[in-house]
Amino acid sequence: MSEGERLYRGNCASCHALRNPRNYTDGEWEVYLRKYGEKIELDSAEQSKILGYLQAAN
Ligand code: HEC
Repeated sequence: MSEGERLYRGNCASCHALRNPRNYTDGEWEVYLRKYGEKIELDSAEQSKILGYLQAAN
């Protein structure tokens, strides 16, 4: 598992089930990473690793 995927699974499933990466475009993931990443205080390195994983998996 990549670090981005590990961070995604570890940080993005506490409020709701993990969203399928395929459900959103690259641009949408960018918006949502900023929106939800800020809520849980991910630093920008963590945000970009998760974003990289999601944009490769969609
Ligand atoms: C603090 C709670 C919380 C965390 C943590 C969280 N989310 Fe969410 N998320 C929500 C809520 C509330 C909604 C809207 C209600 C719903 O659809 O369940 C939502 C909805 C979404 C949606 C659907 C689009 C939208 O905005 O309605 C996406 C995509 C999403 N979250 C991605 C993420 C990602 C990526 C992470 C990890 C960085 C994350 N979420 C972590 C609370 C959270």
